[in-house]
Amino acid sequence: MTTVETNSVSADIAPTAASSGNAATAKFTSNRVSADTSPERLAAIATDVLGAFAKIIEKHGVTYPEYRVLKQWLIDVGEYGEWPLWLDVFVEHNVEEVAYRGHRGSKGTIEGPYYVADTKRLPATCTLPMRADEEGTRLVFSGQVRDLEGKPLRGATVEIWHADSQGYYSHFATNTPDGILRGTVEVDDDGRFDITTVRPAPYQIPTDGPTGWFIEKAGWHPWRPAHLHLMVKAPGKRPITTQLYFDGGEWVSNDVASAVKPELILRPEADADGIERVTYNFDLDPAS
Ligand SMILES: [Fe+2]
Repeated sequence: MTTVETNSVSADIAPTAASSGNAATAKFTSNRVSADTSPERLAAIATDVLGAFAKIIEKHGVTYPEYRVLKQWLIDVGEYGEWPLWLDVFVEHNVEEVAYRGHRGSKGTIEGPYYVADTKRLPATCTLPMRADEEGTRLVFSGQVRDLEGKPLRGATVEIWHADSQGYYSHFATNTPDGILRGTVEVDDDGRFDITTVRPAPYQIPTDGPTGWFIEKAGWHPWRPAHLHLMVKAPGKRPITTQLYFDGGEWVSNDVASAVKPELILRPEADADGIERVTYNFDLDPAS
């Protein structure tokens, strides 16, 4: 890691790392979080974290200049509001795996930093809010929410959010109207939903801030494959948060956030009108 120049980004077209990062941080900090962690458990985890640092410094012979660059970079991540981004891209997938160990229902994956709660309530058959001239291939995403025995779950909701055909999220990109391509869909009495939307594009996580510098200097790439985000809830069931990807799509096999799982691949088929249709069912575990 070293100091690098800010990448050039056309501010009138693309949101900046600082604007989307600060929006994600403001959203996250609007509710104070807490965890039921005992002092003993905290001490054990903290000891292991510091021990891991000690081993890395020893193993690589980390120098004072490198240590100071790290310190500056950590400060920069905070000033750009990019902690939600950096942690959700590089750390969250490990936490999610552990959280859902032994889970028998549909697979989950990371939430990421772009979720917004309390989005527009929509009926089971619906079209997501979008621009009048929204670009992109029309996609009809259908399915059923069920329990582990395959019984439909009346009263379930399917929260969906995704990027537009240029890879931008509403609420986090200045070029995207608030509320588009998001919604909370109420399933019908048979647990079913039919959501019309547009196919999202792959996107780069912001590259003009410290997360982008980190990726560039490490020689990695900043791309996420195209995906739908979903949060599925039903009374008495454990909610799942997941993402669904598109078979054969760019970056599916090399996601910067390591969030792709084989169970999360959609295979839409285009009808005679060019509308893509795909079905995916969600099976929820009982709430513990
Ligand atoms: Fe995303």
